[in-house]
Amino acid sequence: MKNSALVKMVGITKKFPGVTANDNVNFEVQAGEIHALLGENGSGKSTLMSILSGMYRPTGGRIFLNDKEVSFKNPRDAIAAGIGMVHQHFKLVDAFTVAENVVLGSKKLSFFLNMDKIEKKLARLSESYGLGVNPSAKVWQLSVGERQRVEIVKMLYRGSKVLILDEPTAVLTPQETRELFATLRKMTDRGHAVILITHKMQEVMEVADRVTVLRRGKSVATLKRSEVTPKYLAKLMMGQDLPESIKRQKRIIGKTVLKMSGVNVEGEGHRPNLNNINLSIRAGEIVGIVGVAGNGRRELAEVIVGLRKISSGRIQICGRDAANKSPREIIDAGVSYIPDDRLGTGLVPNLGAVDNLIMKSYKSQELAKGVFINFKKAKLYTEKLINNFGVKLTSESAPVSLLSGGNQQRLLLARELANNPRLVIAVFPSRGLDIAATEAVHKLLVNQAEQGAAVLLISEDLDEIFKLCDRVGVLYKGCLMGDLPIEKATIEQIGLMMLGSSQSEVKAS
Ligand SMILES: Nc1ncnc2c1ncn2[C@@H]1O[C@H](COP(=O)(O)OP(=O)(O)OP(=O)(O)O)[C@@H](O)[C@H]1O
Ligand SMILES: [Mg+2]
Repeated sequence: MKNSALVKMVGITKKFPGVTANDNVNFEVQAGEIHALLGENGSGKSTLMSILSGMYRPTGGRIFLNDKEVSFKNPRDAIAAGIGMVHQHFKLVDAFTVAENVVLGSKKLSFFLNMDKIEKKLARLSESYGLGVNPSAKVWQLSVGERQRVEIVKMLYRGSKVLILDEPTAVLTPQETRELFATLRKMTDRGHAVILITHKMQEVMEVADRVTVLRRGKSVATLKRSEVTPKYLAKLMMGQDLPESIKRQKRIIGKTVLKMSGVNVEGEGHRPNLNNINLSIRAGEIVGIVGVAGNGRRELAEVIVGLRKISSGRIQICGRDAANKSPREIIDAGVSYIPDDRLGTGLVPNLGAVDNLIMKSYKSQELAKGVFINFKKAKLYTEKLINNFGVKLTSESAPVSLLSGGNQQRLLLARELANNPRLVIAVFPSRGLDIAATEAVHKLLVNQAEQGAAVLLISEDLDEIFKLCDRVGVLYKGCLMGDLPIEKATIEQIGLMMLGSSQSEVKAS
């Protein structure tokens, strides 16, 4: 029997003003397979899948479904044809229940909805695919992982035969990732096709049946998992060998830089945002903090950098009181902040690279000319940074919002790390970055520690934590659940602590 493709994309081209995001791409998926889509930042993965799911119309090329040519005007057309996409930013309405969200925007929507029947069907689907979704729960009550499962059950309810997931595991704990993969396998066992966009090589090796690699908008190869190694895939993606990974080295540990004692932050509801946090970081140390979203990760970073007030406790930076100071005072105390939203609190999207780089240093002697900025000096200063930190720019004045994710992050790091900070607070610094960009960010952080900075790394990537950190702490419901030397920690333990087990419980088990 011929193994004919369920989906076939032939010669797909998509041009945006100034870039060709997809350049004559061929891509096909069979029923019953998990097909990974791999490529560096900006290689065109999301664009290709947005075309398949009806979000974008291609500039050229054809799409076939079961050998019949299709053309989608919008996502609704694609869903009707059995193609559903789960985006990285979920599109659910918080105040509605799961079931209400599922029928919202559905074509079958009629005036008389039998919610009871819908909830029953959802419960059945959820049960049968191991999704554990409660149809009558309100979305605001759900964790990120649960919301993702709602998106999946929504697509199943609407009859998706092809499910596209855009970097789904970036927001999951290791346990949730395993459960997700089990669900995906159940789907393919029943004849669905799953397309998985990911930057994580070990996920491809673990779960994919085949993999297609994109490079600079072109499809480079489609291969069986059994035919590839991570190294080979990296080479296909980058057109060159993997950058050499940093080796763990003993660093010289100095004086305490950050000391938090009994820090409490009031929350809006009954429960505090942070509860009796005790945490010290010394010069040369990299301390990792992990936790599921909503458990105080962001708050922890924000109280240190002066963006959020504490209600009691003490924060000291290099022995000086640093609680409830302004962000400017914290910057002056030698603290650098790499926030999780590069284009929100990090960079100013509409400004160019030079303007973004001098933002923090405009007061410093080096760049000032009276009350004015010395633009010539500023240009030299930024050129040096751009070189040192390997930022690739087409123009120094083009809005940074047009840079790829990896280059935005390098630019942000260049600005934040330029003045030899004493304390670096990095929140998800490699989120969404490809292998090369991630490696670059890791090197920059380790360099800082080697030069004597204390680094607090808030991350959702446990590989990153194990690779870089000396110690790791887990935040759960605003409490720090233990703080372990990295040699003593295991992925399993940390995963359990992220779900609420205490350090002693985990050890006992
Ligand atoms: N709506 C748009 N308008 C203009 N350019 C776009 C648009 N969407 C994507 N691009 C550009 O198209 C190229 C491919 O982007 P795409 O988002 O598909 O890459 P990707 O492989 O998903 O990258 P990442 O791994 O960073 O998510 C990039 O150069 C990007 O800047
Ligand atoms: Mg993408």
